Amino acid sequence: MYIPKPLDDRITIPHLKKMKQDGKKFACLTAYDYSFANLVEDCGVEVVLVGDSLGMVIQGHETTIPVTLDDICYHGKAVAAGLHNAMLMLDMPFGSLNSPQQAIDNASILLKRTQAQVVKLEGGKTQLKTVETLAEFGIASCSHLGLQPQMVHKMGGYRVQGKAKSAAEEMLTTAQDLEAAGTDLLLLECVPATLAAEITAALEIPVIGIGAGADVDGQILVLQDVLNVTPGKKPKFSKNFMQGQSSIQAAISRYVSEVKRGKFPDKTHIFS
Ligand code: KIV
Repeated sequence: MYIPKPLDDRITIPHLKKMKQDGKKFACLTAYDYSFANLVEDCGVEVVLVGDSLGMVIQGHETTIPVTLDDICYHGKAVAAGLHNAMLMLDMPFGSLNSPQQAIDNASILLKRTQAQVVKLEGGKTQLKTVETLAEFGIASCSHLGLQPQMVHKMGGYRVQGKAKSAAEEMLTTAQDLEAAGTDLLLLECVPATLAAEITAALEIPVIGIGAGADVDGQILVLQDVLNVTPGKKPKFSKNFMQGQSSIQAAISRYVSEVKRGKFPDKTHIFS
């Protein structure tokens, strides 16, 4: 009988769910190449995201919209080569999930070419059917709510989402619907900390936050923000972890340690 190689050393969705149940925080970070993937994993990061933020921090665009499936594949392969234990998550780029069928086809390409474990998709309630279809086909997904950078032009800029009572109620309902549809993880970007806490408590699936306060299950930041090499104005929710550190490794380790100890984010990084 063929016994498949165990995934024991890999961080998996059940692993993150167990961390949530045990009240243990996990650390996530973006990476876009082999060297940083290696380093980030060595520093104890549980989930590495090849985000479409690469459009900005790698390619120098103003938005994430120009990023292609080939771009995510290229960087996904490079990052996969540097990982042994961490979970690899890839962004579905703008225009790659305009229907459930297109999403299945493109997610399959990403997973086959990179051996990533999870795809992340923006779109909220418009992606309910897609999330359900991905789940039926055995593809793990992370749904991205709150500020969705692929919709920057529709939203009229990068703004905190879910401040009004009706918008907050709608986000909570959408999160619950996405969980019921079979999404495995939820990412909340730039939402009031109290709303993120409410959504996290209402869901069984792990919730990852960026600009979503401390009361979520895991935190994520863009690597360049952590290392303070992002040109221009820094987002309020990020933190320069290089400050006071003598190496990149020390800075990333500090990020991981502060996330796990609940020290990051503090009140200076959150929205109300
Ligand atoms: O693309 C990205 O890096 C992201 C993070 C900001 C969560 O989606």
